[in-house]
Amino acid sequence: TLGPSVVDIRTFAKTGMFTFDPGFLATASCESKITFIDGDQGQLYYRGYPIEQLAEGGSDFLETCYLLIYGELPSKAQKDEFVKTVTEHTMVHEQLTRFWQGFRRDAHPMAMMVGVVGALSAFYQDSLDVANPRHREVAIYRLLSKIPTIAAMCYRYSQGLPFAYPRNDLSYTANFMHMMFSTPCAPYEPNPVLVRALDRILILHADHEQNASTSTVRLSGSSGANPFACIAAGIATLWGPSHGGANEAVLLMLDEIGSVENVPAFMEGVKNKTHKLMGFGHRVYKNMDPRAAIMKRTCDEVLAELGLQDDPKFKLAMALEKIALEDEYFVSRKLYPNVDFYSGIVQSALGIPVEMFTVIFAVARTVGWISHWNEMMSDPGMKIGRPRQLYTGAPRRDYVKMADRG
Ligand code: ACO
Repeated sequence: TLGPSVVDIRTFAKTGMFTFDPGFLATASCESKITFIDGDQGQLYYRGYPIEQLAEGGSDFLETCYLLIYGELPSKAQKDEFVKTVTEHTMVHEQLTRFWQGFRRDAHPMAMMVGVVGALSAFYQDSLDVANPRHREVAIYRLLSKIPTIAAMCYRYSQGLPFAYPRNDLSYTANFMHMMFSTPCAPYEPNPVLVRALDRILILHADHEQNASTSTVRLSGSSGANPFACIAAGIATLWGPSHGGANEAVLLMLDEIGSVENVPAFMEGVKNKTHKLMGFGHRVYKNMDPRAAIMKRTCDEVLAELGLQDDPKFKLAMALEKIALEDEYFVSRKLYPNVDFYSGIVQSALGIPVEMFTVIFAVARTVGWISHWNEMMSDPGMKIGRPRQLYTGAPRRDYVKMADRG
């Protein structure tokens, strides 16, 4: 809501004035009731509930989805109905499975995700009636149900494995692990500690207000575009290393550093701006990202469960974090670990390959994207997003015919 530090400049437009704010450093693009970040205190709330209570206090990913979409925690009956509906729509149209044949086996799974999720708009043309709340709800269910199936298919295709059909007797997250890891000879046996860890990753990544990918989904949705095409645009934006690609970049960075002895030299390079410390820094958090603290505890639990307490990557990550938290370069710029700093280590321990990390992020963030899209589409005062620019190009000049150009 508008407070003393917020200036509502909408009236400027009528006077011909506008503001210049590249990167949206000081501009709110919309009002939203979904997620609140207190960047100075390092706190995150979904619909008013602290992230720690949702991720570590008994909720699960699908309940968090219900909360984000509908604004309230479900009753037992509402949750059962929601879980049943999502679970029963996890299959994709058989025709869609042929899309993969058009991709190279070594294509990045995010490239496949952008293409296949965008293609859902060709299968669900009724979702074009975006003014109809019931049609929007159906699109939400379709996306939540089918995104894990599509994500797992991207992985299986890249491995040359047959697609695994969903299992309705498993939880959302256990079913995803089954679709990733089951083989005809060895069905995946869900380990509750590992399923819980992945479920927590999904909760922590479910929404984060107006980040680049969510803003993209809102902007494309504001033209009335098909929701599946809007989500494909969000996936494309998420892919970049400054956003969802950071978890993959963290693991590649840890590989490059190799061992704790090489940390000081690497940090010198960071300070000389040769490279960034991936998994550090955030546009909004100027304190510890609360998701990073939960992720670190989850990392501890998973490594203990798997007997990997001496995992060299975890030790290296902790050494980097310790140095960074004491170093003037990071302290003065308020650079703290973000959620992606430890999530890659957890995902590696779960057996998820590095190229799939951002895909898992997309699976989780789909609910945030679609909740924001739905909130925006429900607003009777919604306007198409149309940023302005400062033109810095050539002044008016006359066209010169080719023969006269010299
Ligand atoms: N390592 C080293 N220095 C950094 C880092 C970093 N990770 N992040 C910011 N800085 C420095 C910048 O060089 C700059 O220094 P200067 O003042 O001397 O020029 C200062 O900190 C401010 O940085 P900005 O780039 O202005 O911060 P911005 O808010 O634009 O960027 C971002 C935020 C993109 C997340 C950035 O911190 C970054 O690239 N981090 C690494 C990638 C990453 O982890 N991304 C994940 C984000 S969270 C998510 O998407 C889930």
